[in-house]
Amino acid sequence: MTDLLNSDLDLSEFETDLAGLALSPDAQDLLFRDAHTAYAFTDEPVTDDQVKAVYDLVKWAPTAMNSQPLRVVLVRTPEARRRLVQHMGGNNQARVAGAPLVAILAADVDFHDELHKTFSVVPVAREMIVGEDAARERSARFSAALQAAYFLVGVRAAGLGAGPMTGFDAAGVDAEFFPHGDHKTLMVVNIGRTAGDGQRPRLPRLDFDEVVETA
Ligand SMILES: Cc1cc2nc3c(=O)[nH]c(=O)nc-3n(C[C@H](O)[C@H](O)[C@H](O)COP(=O)(O)O)c2cc1C
Repeated sequence: MTDLLNSDLDLSEFETDLAGLALSPDAQDLLFRDAHTAYAFTDEPVTDDQVKAVYDLVKWAPTAMNSQPLRVVLVRTPEARRRLVQHMGGNNQARVAGAPLVAILAADVDFHDELHKTFSVVPVAREMIVGEDAARERSARFSAALQAAYFLVGVRAAGLGAGPMTGFDAAGVDAEFFPHGDHKTLMVVNIGRTAGDGQRPRLPRLDFDEVVETA
């Protein structure tokens, strides 16, 4: 039997890949290093089962007071797609028109109505914020944005490409899809199997030392 401790095996590449990270190198590539914003897709449809699998990961995102304000509209019918496209800006119109699936990600500013279920550890939570409309909207937008980031990673975890966009008339999308005023649109995301030429070259990222300081 080979004595592994004394063998000549070169394990340096393996050690480098896992340095400091618990996630396998393949998963690191799928979710981060090889994951690009997607601009063009194959014709392969995105099923409701795939989106459910994505949400079953995304729902574990942390949110303030466990408020979970993210709400998602899956734009599936040609009529809904037309209603959304008209509010998209410039080139984003064609992107939304051509994607296998489009999701509208919005923040529910009335998330406090779910707190009896999601934050039952503090029974008075709803009463504490029910009259605080501005603060509630800020909190909803912030936590839903965190959930939206998880959503993009969740789409990648399904092996799909995500094309997030904020280039649209948010007030127009709100009026079109959320006429009661309780949801604020944050992002529109194109979803599908990324086409061979469906991503752009990587742009530079800031280095650790440019971003992180130790106080
Ligand atoms: C919040 C957000 C808004 C964006 N809005 C648009 C948009 O309106 N139109 C567009 O073409 N790309 C949009 N993008 C795509 C970014 O330009 C892209 O994610 C970034 O350049 C990184 O590209 P990469 O993932 O290929 O490295 C948006 C991305 C994010 C995260």
